[in-house]
Formats: sequence, C-alpha cells, structure tokens
Amino acid sequence: MDKVLVIGQGGREHALAWKLASSPHIEKVFVAPGNPAMEWDHKIKCENISYDNPDLIVQFCKQNQIALVVVGPDNALANGLVDDLLEHSILVFGPTKMAAQLESSKAFAKNLMIANGIPTARAQIFTDIEMVKSFLDKNLYLSGYVVKASGLALGKGVFVCDNKEQAYQAASQLLGGLCGQSGNTIVIEEKLIGPEVSVFVLADGGPDFVYLGSACDYKTLNDNDQGPNTGGMGAFTVTPQQESLFLDDVLAQVVKPTLKAMKNQNTPFSGVLFIGCMITPQGPKVLEYNVRFGDPETQAILGLIEDDFYLLLKAAAKKELSSYPPVTKKSGVILHVVKVSEGYPGLGDQSIKLGVALDCFNQSGTISSCHDIAQSGVSPQVRDQSKDNREVFLNLIKNHPFNSFGDYKYFFSGIKIKKVEILSKNSDAISEPKLVTVSESQLVTSGGRVLGVSVYHQDIQSARLVAYEKLKLIKFQGEHFRKDIGWYRL
Ligand code: AMP
Ligand code: GLY
Repeated sequence: MDKVLVIGQGGREHALAWKLASSPHIEKVFVAPGNPAMEWDHKIKCENISYDNPDLIVQFCKQNQIALVVVGPDNALANGLVDDLLEHSILVFGPTKMAAQLESSKAFAKNLMIANGIPTARAQIFTDIEMVKSFLDKNLYLSGYVVKASGLALGKGVFVCDNKEQAYQAASQLLGGLCGQSGNTIVIEEKLIGPEVSVFVLADGGPDFVYLGSACDYKTLNDNDQGPNTGGMGAFTVTPQQESLFLDDVLAQVVKPTLKAMKNQNTPFSGVLFIGCMITPQGPKVLEYNVRFGDPETQAILGLIEDDFYLLLKAAAKKELSSYPPVTKKSGVILHVVKVSEGYPGLGDQSIKLGVALDCFNQSGTISSCHDIAQSGVSPQVRDQSKDNREVFLNLIKNHPFNSFGDYKYFFSGIKIKKVEILSKNSDAISEPKLVTVSESQLVTSGGRVLGVSVYHQDIQSARLVAYEKLKLIKFQGEHFRKDIGWYRL
C-alpha cells in the first residue's frame, strides 16, 4: 500500500485526493496544505506545509516514503516544484517549469501554436500601451477583442470586449498593474464565437497520451454568461455524442502537434494537458493551454472514471502511457455547481468578504456548524439537535463512490476552521436548562470559491435538480451561485 501527496488546497485538490484515496493501492493521501473538509475522509490527511517551500515538501516526501506527488495549482508548477522533486528522484505527476510555460506565458503558448499551425484565434503580443493604441486604431478584429494578461492571474486576467474602446480600457488596466507583473505582457486576440469545452489528456513526456475526458465550464460570474470572468462557476461532463463534435479534431490538430512540438523544443510535456477550446464554424480553436487539472472541471470528470486513478497518474509520471489502454468511464453525466463568497472575483478595489460561517441545515431547517458535526460524536460542545444534525450531515458529506444514479458529493475549497464561543442550552442540568457558553469549531469562508456539489445522473437535467437541492443544505451569508449550470451549451 502506497502513500501519496497532493499539492494544493481547493476543490480540485479535494477531488484529486478523494479519487486517489479510492484506489485499493493507496493507504494514505496527504494534502499540503489541504483544507479541513478533506479530512472528513479518513484516508486523507492535511499537512500544514506551504508549497512555496520546496525544501519542506522534499523533506516530507522522504520522511514519509511518498510514492507519488500530484501537483494541483498552476503557480506551484510555474515556480518549478516538479523540477525540485525530480532533482531528489521523487516521482511526481506534473510538468517541469519549462513545460509549464504553456500556461504561465500566454505569449509562449501563442508563439508555439502559430509556429506549429495549431488552430487558435489571431493575436498580437504587447508590452506598451502606445503600440496597443495604434493596433486597435486599425480595428482588425471585427467580431471583438479579447485582452489577456500573459502571466497567471487565477482566471481573472482575461477581458472579453465587444469593441476597441473596451479593449483599450482593459489593456491599459492590465499594463497599469491590475494583475501585477502577470499583466506586464498582454495578448490581444480576435474574439471567437461558439461553445467552449475543456479537454483533458494525460501525457508522459513523449508523444503518447491518454484521453481523460471533457467538460464544459462556466467562466462568468452570473447567469447567461454575464459579469466578470472567474476561475469557474460550474461544469458538466460532455457525453460521447457531444464529443463527436470536436474530439477527433482536438486530438489530431492540437494534442498531437503540441506534444510533438514540446518534445522537439526540449521542453517535453508530462502531466495533464488541459486544452480550453472554442468550437467555431471552422472547427475547434485553442483559447488557452493549462498544464494542470481544471477547477471545477475536475470535480465533474473524475467521478466518471472507472480506472484506478492512482495507477493512471503513476503511469504518466513513469513515462509508461504507451501501453496504457483507453480509460473506462461510466455512462451518464456529472454536473458540478460552485458557491462563491460575496465580492468574488474581487477585481480592482472590490474585496471578497471572508470569515463567514458555513451552516448546514438538517431536515427541519435547524442551522448547525458543519465542522464540529463532522468531527465529533454527540458532545456537549455541539448544539441542541446535535445527534440528528450529525447524522443528517454525515449522510450529506459521505464519501460517495458515484456508483448509483442520483449520487452526489460536496467538494470544499475556500474554508478554514475558527474557534468561536457560543451560547448553548445546558441539557445536563437536572434543574431548569440554562444557557452556558461553549466553544465550537466553526467552518468559515477563507476564499472566493467556497464549495461545490457534484451530482451523478443519467441525464443532465436530473443532475441539475439534485445539485440545486443539495446546494441549499450548506449555506453562508452573502453566498452566490449561478442558477443556469447545465441549462445550455454544446
Ligand atoms: P482563457 O484564460 O484564455 O481561457 O480565457 C478565459 C475565458 O475567456 C475563456 O474561457 C473564454 O470564455 C474567454 N475567451 C478567451 N479567449 C477568447 C477568444 N479568443 N474569443 C472569445 N472568448 C475568449
Ligand atoms: N476552470 C478553468 C480552469 O481551471 O482554468
């Protein structure tokens, strides 16, 4: 039995840890730093180690005989964590710093696509606002402009603009420091029209790859694709019938030439290649490469995969994908809806409201603190209907294998534990019950995206109904979520 380490702390890493933990070959999944809800699964343990400190990660791996490290976040990859681990002969799933440029530099990615004839939107690269102005004055892209920070910006560095005036405004904000150094170089693209899809393949540094699955992600904050771009507000897996619209083209015209080009230029790509593309009337065109699992697409696609996920990632890390058969998947779909904090995505001066308590509701509508209920048995620390609530809550969060219709699972991201003093009825008192102060561990929000629920069903509309019902059960003040996930697309 092996021990693995997942790097990261969000909903994507919760899903990765959950899926790895389901492997019969896995004894323990450590997550650095993880989040408290992950530990509600007994095989998962969080380690308070920052992945900004590669020495500590290396030391932890050696001390705990970690068989495989799976790196979640883009910034850890862009900073070269994989290179640090490889230097110490630690097996790791993910691309090196050089290969991670496919995502960390949109300018690098655009140049690679142009040089290799990979279908993508027309574009120009800029570092100077005066050059932007004279480019926009020519008004070359009649469908509109998309202005992007070249560097990493948590999905918040892209502005889809209808006209050159909006594009100029976005370019000056980015070059003026809206996304820090990530916006020192910008890419201005032609606006493409069409449905979008996220395609995931595993690669092992050579030409071989294994197709994992595809999902539709909802990028904007509000219904009907309104509002600013976010990291992703929801997703659903696409069916084999929908895949027939784009998959052969994406694998032949994008995945194969990209892996070949990366190898030829001495930056071989290993890990998960996530291609964000738009299906245009001329065929699929790449909007962006990502070099890691998508969030929240991962919370949707992993539940359909029947293969041992640990063995699959290990094969990619060990350059053994050439002999790997196609992934087996369940029929049906998984739909995922995200809840975010008030103020998310917090662009410009707007700040995200944090530190808000999460509450779960039992069937009679009573509010309780989620964490104590998940952690403890019936204890005096927990409020009145604790026993009922605990059962209802454990049932809510239980580690569903997604193996029957209507199954669901919550994945948590921006949360942490806060100790609070609350007033509770002292039920031990022989005389009149009286109010006493007890301490409780509350789960509070600590990030923009807070939690999401994934629902497995045979059809998407049934999955939607279950997802929106389940979302009502864990609430917080100021919460926001899209109401139209799964209504349309493709
Ligand atoms: P990116 O981070 O490059 O994927 O961009 C984020 C989102 O902006 C995409 O998911 C699209 O919704 C939108 N977008 C990016 N590039 C384009 C484009 N060339 N045309 C239309 N929409 C785009
Ligand atoms: N959901 C899009 C991303 O992870 O970049």
